[in-house]
Amino acid sequence: MKNILYISSSARKYNDHKPQHQSISRMLGKHFLNELSADLPDVEVVHRDLSIHQPAFIDEAFLAAAFEKHSLSEEQQQILAASDLAIKEVKDADVIVISSPMYNYGMPAVLKAWFDLVIRVNQTFSFDLARGDKPLLPILSGKSVVLLASWGECEFKKGETQHHLNHLSSHIEQLSPYLGADNFYEIASEYQEFNDQRHQDSKQKAIEDTIELAKLLKAKHVTGH
Ligand SMILES: Cc1cc2nc3c(=O)[nH]c(=O)nc-3n(C[C@H](O)[C@H](O)[C@H](O)COP(=O)(O)O)c2cc1C
Repeated sequence: MKNILYISSSARKYNDHKPQHQSISRMLGKHFLNELSADLPDVEVVHRDLSIHQPAFIDEAFLAAAFEKHSLSEEQQQILAASDLAIKEVKDADVIVISSPMYNYGMPAVLKAWFDLVIRVNQTFSFDLARGDKPLLPILSGKSVVLLASWGECEFKKGETQHHLNHLSSHIEQLSPYLGADNFYEIASEYQEFNDQRHQDSKQKAIEDTIELAKLLKAKHVTGH
């Protein structure tokens, strides 16, 4: 059995039959998952839609429980329950697919809230001052993390003129080792706000790249070739 964890985070929905105002990042997620699970009935996809089931923000009680050195009280166990489940889903996954819009040059708040639940001491990273100035070390490994993104403007990709403004891709790439990523992949559709030919071309290219990447990861993680 191979497991895919799919995290979607756009505030917009996606419906094949409606041409306008549909989430592009969700549309890419749909193409990716269709291709990845095609002809593979044993692949299990766990889908967490963060815009419907919004993660709670962490607070002082959460941090006290997460850093508790002794056994947890029942109340602390409850406080950590959503984090425990999210971490289990990450641990169980071979491929983690994150579909995300760019909001204010970064990730949506619901996605950041999910990362704050998942990246937890002694669960997804260890902390040891004996390592000097870099005390954090990811615990998980062997996974692929895929970011399927959409943004309204352009020139945000690596090597392009506005890459320094793109805090969505760089942030998620930086966090991906804490999800256990050995490999990070990114595909983005651009120019949504212009709604012109450049947007249509970019969207079409992102769909094609998404399907190609799904084939590659299917060979790598699922069929093992
Ligand atoms: C609240 C909000 C903030 C946005 N901020 C940016 C931005 O900083 N840069 C950008 O290029 N596009 C921005 N956009 C445009 C979205 O990234 C674009 O509409 C994208 O397609 C959204 O993803 P979705 O289609 O999956 O919903 C923003 C849109 C919204 C609703």
